[in-house]
Order: sequence, then structure tokens, then C-alpha cells
Amino acid sequence: MTQPSLRWREALGQWAIPEAIVEAAPERPWGFPPELFRWKPNEDRNSEMRPSRLRALEALPPGGSVIDVGVGGGASSLGLVPRVGLITGVDESDNMLRSFEEAARAAGVAARAVQGRWPEAADQVGPADVVVCHHVFYNVGDLEPFAAALTDHARLRVVVELTQHHPQSPLNALWKALHGLDRPTAPTADDAWAVLGAMGLEVHRTEIEVPPRWREVTPEVVAFARRRLCLGADRDHEIAVLLEEHGAQPQRVVALWWDGTAH
Ligand SMILES: C[S@@+](CC[C@H](N)C(=O)[O-])C[C@H]1O[C@@H](n2cnc3c(N)ncnc32)[C@H](O)[C@@H]1O
Repeated sequence: MTQPSLRWREALGQWAIPEAIVEAAPERPWGFPPELFRWKPNEDRNSEMRPSRLRALEALPPGGSVIDVGVGGGASSLGLVPRVGLITGVDESDNMLRSFEEAARAAGVAARAVQGRWPEAADQVGPADVVVCHHVFYNVGDLEPFAAALTDHARLRVVVELTQHHPQSPLNALWKALHGLDRPTAPTADDAWAVLGAMGLEVHRTEIEVPPRWREVTPEVVAFARRRLCLGADRDHEIAVLLEEHGAQPQRVVALWWDGTAH
């Protein structure tokens, strides 16, 4: 394992929640609620200008195939309709895959859902023209094998999008206010970039600022934050006030892309 990979893994490890807090939590603090990641074409944050979309479209032949790793509700690949002919969505969450399939049907694009964890699930998936993977890297301790499997499944290009800072960073002020706990600030997208570079990949990079994923502090957003913060619903009002204050900041997102090696 290279130095940057070790650094990435170690820095991510710092995000572990202290055991006593997890044990006292009313529900497990991990996982993603499908409702918050549902593909809503009308609220498309992947506007025409979004580099991750442009870079994928640039490489994708008309009617070409895409693998979307950590597909969630499909926000990373459904924006490639109508150019894309087939999307294979891979996700460890069945609920997310159902949401993706429903959204793909509504968008009129052929879709296949593969349930499993990447890279372990990579054997179940043949190569595609383009592989996209958005907002998954910070979930992955061992980035090298994960990225290697993205590369060897792409005939033309891999496009990754991630936030410059850990996606839980907007909750850091809430952790401090509600638990008195300082949360980490590393790793960042720069560290991910270093991991890919140390693997010998020639990675291109650009970044932009986008509106926050959730512009309003809805009950669903409060419930998601409450779960991450290991608190009960009795704290919802405090959480909502703090989220209004700290939550809905624009995000810096980084697009990384490189050539695939599949035949
Ligand atoms: C933050 S969501 C992003 C969803 C979508 N790509 C987007 O940009 O809206 C992360 C998704 O990746 C999935 N996921 C995380 N790690 C994964 C892994 N190693 N293999 C497969 N899916 C994973 C989660 O279940 C979740 O649906």
C-alpha cells in the first residue's frame, strides 16, 4: 500500500464515532435514506455546466454504456440521458437500487441493478464505455482496489466526483454544539487525488462550487442529521436551528477523470 493510501485510510478512520456515543444512540448512525438521494430531474444539481457530467458525456458514444458505482437514486448517471443507452447501477443498498430502477424507468433508459459492495461486486459486472462514481470515495477505506476496479471496468473513461471536504463536515459544528466533540477535517479530495496519482493513474481534475444537496431544512434532512449525530427526535428543534445556521452552505465539488483500461 502506498503512503497516500495509508494516509487516506488513517484519516478516514479518525471519523469513527466514539463507541460510547454509538452505544447510546437510538438508531445506527450509518446508511443513506433513499428519499434524500432520489433522482429529481427538476432539481438537478448536475446542471449542464457540471464538469463531472461534461467529462462523462464527452467520452460517451451515442447509445453507450455506463456503470454507476454507488448509484444511490441515480443522480450521477441519469443526467447522461439521452446519450446513454444502458446504465448498470451498483449499490450495497437494495432500497437505493429500487429508487434508481424507478427513476430509470421514468427517464426511459435501460437499466440493470447490481446489489453488492464495490470492488467485491465488480465480478458481477462486465465492462462499460464509461464508469462514473459520485460521492462514494469518503465511504471507502481501501481506495486503491476500489479505484483499480473502476479503471479496469471502463473502456474509455472513469469520472469520479467528490466533495473537497468530507461530506459530514457540515455537521462538525453540530457535533461541537451538541456533543462538545471536535471532528476531523481530513482527508480531503486532494488526498484522494494523491492516492490515484500514486497508483500511476494520469488523473485530470477540476472543481466548482455547487448549491448544497439539500437547500431546505426539511424533516427528512433533520432526521438524517439526527441519525448521524446519534441523537433522539427530542433534539430535532435544536438540530433544525443549528442546521439553518451551519448546514446549507454551497459545496466545493471536485471532478476527477482518467482513462479506463477495459477492452
Ligand atoms: C452519498 S450516496 C451518493 C449516491 C449518488 N452517487 C449521488 O451522487 O447522488 C452514496 C451511495 O453509495 C453507496 N455505497 C457506498 N459505498 C459503497 C460501496 N463500497 N459499494 C457499493 N455502493 C456503495 C451507498 O449505499 C449510497 O447509495
